Amino acid sequence: MPRGGFDASCLDRLLQTDRPEYLDRDDVDDSVKRQVTDALDWVGRVFKNHEQVAGIALDLLADTADPKILELGAGHGAVSRTLLENHPTAEVTVTDINPASVAAIAAGDLGSHPRAVVREMDATAIDAADDSFDLALFALSFHRLAPEQASRVFAEGTRVAKQLLIIDLPRPPAPLHLVRLATMLPLAPFVPLVHDGVISSLRCYSPSALRELAHHADPAITVELRGGLVSPQIVVASRAVSGRR
Ligand SMILES: C[S@@+](CC[C@H](N)C(=O)[O-])C[C@H]1O[C@@H](n2cnc3c(N)ncnc32)[C@H](O)[C@@H]1O
Repeated sequence: MPRGGFDASCLDRLLQTDRPEYLDRDDVDDSVKRQVTDALDWVGRVFKNHEQVAGIALDLLADTADPKILELGAGHGAVSRTLLENHPTAEVTVTDINPASVAAIAAGDLGSHPRAVVREMDATAIDAADDSFDLALFALSFHRLAPEQASRVFAEGTRVAKQLLIIDLPRPPAPLHLVRLATMLPLAPFVPLVHDGVISSLRCYSPSALRELAHHADPAITVELRGGLVSPQIVVASRAVSGRR
């Protein structure tokens, strides 16, 4: 399936890539990956992205007394830290597939936080029992996955948690997408974060693709989509208890 969905235009179908980001490559030095992760953390702190992501998650849990939250693809761990700071009783399982990221998070304050557990975990094969969490959160990571894996995240996230919250880059209409790419491309060879940003842009899914991925995982999964052209794309997925697997 094209990243823009089956109804994508011809131009939209050209604006995609299978090329992995530095963060997802085995042949890239950990120091380059660290540079991308640190830059993401810095941008998130300066532009309050971590607060925004944590706020969206906690809004979904407004009626849950002591929520259990699973963060997938936590990277630097700043979103989990913000969740713990902004909710007095939330318990957070902080995870990532990258062992170096998990080790760095575990070595910091979250490693000894009384309401945090830090673990290595693959969002496409979550090592947890059904219904273990109130919310599973996957922020700025979903586009990294090819359609088959991405669909697995819908299946796994809604299996282990009552709600799966995916927050990712929006996929603009193709002409606007070209403009977005043109502003980033000159810096891509020099700045690792921008290099990964260009690839992220080419890999992000459209609303129709997201619905198709969830349906492919299980037609019983319901999907609510929010977000705009410039604001993050927000996906809240869940399934009826009897439909969980
Ligand atoms: C761009 S970082 C996002 C960091 C953080 N969530 C944020 O909002 O800034 C993407 C993260 O997704 C992780 N990742 C990629 N594939 C994954 C998978 N299959 N399961 C879990 N994490 C994955 C990467 O290791 C990386 O740390």
